[in-house]
Amino acid sequence: MKRKKVKRIVIFGLCLSLVIGLITWLYFYHQKVEVILVKDLTVPYQSSITNLSFIEKVQKGKILTKEETIDTTKLGTKKITLTFQNQYGRKETKTFEITVVDTIPPEIKFQENLTTIEGNEIDLLKDVTAYDDVDQEVKVLVEGTYDFQKSGTYSLSYVAKDQSGNETRKKFTLTVEKKKASQPNTNTTQPDTTFTTKKGFQGITKNGVTYIDGVLIANKTYSLPSNYGNGLTQDTMNAFNEMKKGAQDAGLNIEIISGFRSYNKQNTLYNNYVARDGKVAADRYSARPGHSEHQTGMAVDINSLYTSFENTAEGKWLSNNSYQYGFILRYPKDGESITGYMYEPWHFRYVGKELATKLYNNGSWITLEEYFGITSQYE
Ligand code: DAL
Ligand code: ZN
Repeated sequence: MKRKKVKRIVIFGLCLSLVIGLITWLYFYHQKVEVILVKDLTVPYQSSITNLSFIEKVQKGKILTKEETIDTTKLGTKKITLTFQNQYGRKETKTFEITVVDTIPPEIKFQENLTTIEGNEIDLLKDVTAYDDVDQEVKVLVEGTYDFQKSGTYSLSYVAKDQSGNETRKKFTLTVEKKKASQPNTNTTQPDTTFTTKKGFQGITKNGVTYIDGVLIANKTYSLPSNYGNGLTQDTMNAFNEMKKGAQDAGLNIEIISGFRSYNKQNTLYNNYVARDGKVAADRYSARPGHSEHQTGMAVDINSLYTSFENTAEGKWLSNNSYQYGFILRYPKDGESITGYMYEPWHFRYVGKELATKLYNNGSWITLEEYFGITSQYE
């Protein structure tokens, strides 16, 4: 009887210690690894960083995940998952988020001193180019007050902001010069005449405006009076809107980046180009005031002012389809000796569907000069 009791106590004791042992083992086995992350979980765009550089300390265990570089070429949050093991061999994974941010402000190129004459508005952003390390839109604004109607020297700033809010601020000066008492109008208006072109078309110049076979002509030979024009013509706008729809149907987007330009606007533009590149070079790509087709209100520059526009889907589409909407590619490739201007794959002139179709010439554009038998040369 006594022995039986002893046996029971022993068995009970053994079970009890087994249970206690099991509980203790379970307790330790499930001990969590203590991971302390670095405080700043934001990393600069395109920086070289590894998945383990966010771990400041690991206690009661170790990291099993191998060190690897993280792709930081995209902005935004990224999940990092790491595997740990505690001292008793249990594995666990932990996930945390890091944020890739752009911290570099955009860079801008600009002219430090801009000059114009009282009453001559110039586009202060025209020669500003902004670049950002991230391929995203950069907005540039002009900060400060100025008045094109009042002579003076204005101290202004360009403020370029990228999509992440990084900002670059650069100072420039705008000098508005006093209008001289008699600033001669260098544009000599052509006398009223009628004439026949080499190809037998009837030309007429009236009040300084020349039409050939009813088509308004502005080139290096034929100019417009300084007061001519007040915006894109209704026909041009309607045709452009129709063309924009056509482009949209083809999955493309076309926008006018320069439409009507007044005599004064062209004067400023041209003079700025001459100041930058010299007269000979400027004459190859910019019209002298009174000679720009933009003053007719029937010419538009579309999307880009780079020759590479010809390789874009929009550039190709326009070159092949604009005629259907009444627009011609006005300054075709290799046409400089005829039109007087270098190739401009972005510049389109509204002439109506009938003439545009003829000039399209099944994809081998003919110029207005060739078609009518006229020149484009300054006197
Ligand atoms: N770029 C064209 C030729 C103009 O200035 O009108
Ligand atoms: Zn143009």
